[in-house]
Amino acid sequence: MEVKVFGVVGAGQMGNGIAHVAAASGLDVIMNDVKQEFVDRGMQTIEKNLGRMVSKGKMTEDEKTQILSRIKPSVSLEDFSNADFVVEAIIESLDLKRTVFTALDEITPKQAILASNTSSISITKIASVTKRPDKFIGMHFMNPVPVMKLVEVINGLATSQETTEITVELSKRFGKIPVEAMDFPGFISNRVLMPMINEAVYALFEGVGTVEAIDEVMKLGMNHPMGPLTLADFIGLDTCLAILNVLYEGFGDTKYRPCPLLKKYVDAGYYGRKSGKGFYDYSAK
Ligand code: CAA
Repeated sequence: MEVKVFGVVGAGQMGNGIAHVAAASGLDVIMNDVKQEFVDRGMQTIEKNLGRMVSKGKMTEDEKTQILSRIKPSVSLEDFSNADFVVEAIIESLDLKRTVFTALDEITPKQAILASNTSSISITKIASVTKRPDKFIGMHFMNPVPVMKLVEVINGLATSQETTEITVELSKRFGKIPVEAMDFPGFISNRVLMPMINEAVYALFEGVGTVEAIDEVMKLGMNHPMGPLTLADFIGLDTCLAILNVLYEGFGDTKYRPCPLLKKYVDAGYYGRKSGKGFYDYSAK
């Protein structure tokens, strides 16, 4: 099956990045969210990120205009009636994802592939609400999507080989490097990343070091581009907590228990960069 029309549900941090790389690869893209203001904000972010490339001489103004013109903003899932491939990038709520995929299963053509950008929720479980679990897959992009090379391709229990192959090819078309993982809590990326972030929060909680010290140790000592607490703020502390809970419940193993300090920050509404405060203060920016 050839993918010509590509849909994205969710125009937030991940969704607009996915729409950006899909449109840059030459596909016609539909970018959907529940409110016009969210879609508008997503479009503005894409325009800003493309503008950055133009100012660096990596793209012409004309190419930027062409890419933007390929993205159709949408506030109705009915707009996906001719989509060949739809990826969902909404918040990490199983209930909301189930609602979206129940609707998409009715609206999209029978042969269309449905994918989730979930960072940890079971692909097999989400697929079970559709009548096409063989055409359901995890397509997990990394933030910031236009920059990061990886797409983690997650095969659910019923995902067909053809669905995997199409998703792998599509990831390559987007200029990414696909890596396959099986459907277990956290897949590969977050099974390894989140315990590190959680341990960094425990180190802070127990007074082993300051926020800055913990980040500096990992940046200077391990060559990480961002320290773990900066990275947690970047991903979103609510998202980190949701992923840790999936690992903790999914494996029933106390080694994944979220640090009480992380829970407290989320309770306080300290979600990191997006809320203006997390381990660092972003209110001035
Ligand atoms: N959109 C588009 N381009 C962006 C961007 C964005 N949001 N942010 C940065 N860039 C570009 C810049 O324009 C710049 O491009 P050039 O190299 O062409 O000049 C390049 O990225 C580097 O940016 P900067 O020089 O401004 O900053 P930096 O060198 O500090 O890099 C970073 C920024 C790429 C974000 C880097 O800090 C990094 O790699 N951080 C780690 C990111 C990471 O680990 N992401 C994965 C998170 S986990 C996840 O997403 C999945 C999950 O399930 C939780």
